[in-house]
Amino acid sequence: MNNANADELFKLGKEVYLEAGNCAACHTLSDAGSNANVGPNLNEIRPDVQRIIMAVRNGIGVMPAMEGILSNKEIEAVAHYVSISAEQ
Ligand code: HEC
Repeated sequence: MNNANADELFKLGKEVYLEAGNCAACHTLSDAGSNANVGPNLNEIRPDVQRIIMAVRNGIGVMPAMEGILSNKEIEAVAHYVSISAEQ
């Protein structure tokens, strides 16, 4: 992935986190300014891309499955965004 594509994916992923995916309603992630405690704090668990994709596609516990609600591109983008920004 070149830098321009990575930046674009990061930006789209942040939008999905805050809007279409509604992740901010349930999770804490400092880069996104979200402070919810329904699900685990993403800065603490620092999930990798595969773990995020699994959770978002299939759901886990009370977290809803978002396959078919988010596009594959949106799922890929939000996983990219969360995996990078959770490290900060
Ligand atoms: C309705 C609340 C809710 C929403 C919306 C939500 N989550 Fe979650 N999420 C949870 C809960 C609760 C868990 C813990 C589930 C469990 O382990 O039983 C969780 C777990 C996770 C995990 C850890 C999975 C694992 O393998 O342990 C990741 C990563 C994650 N969520 C990312 C996201 C992302 C990205 C979004 C947005 C696309 C999102 N969540 C939207 C509630 C939510």
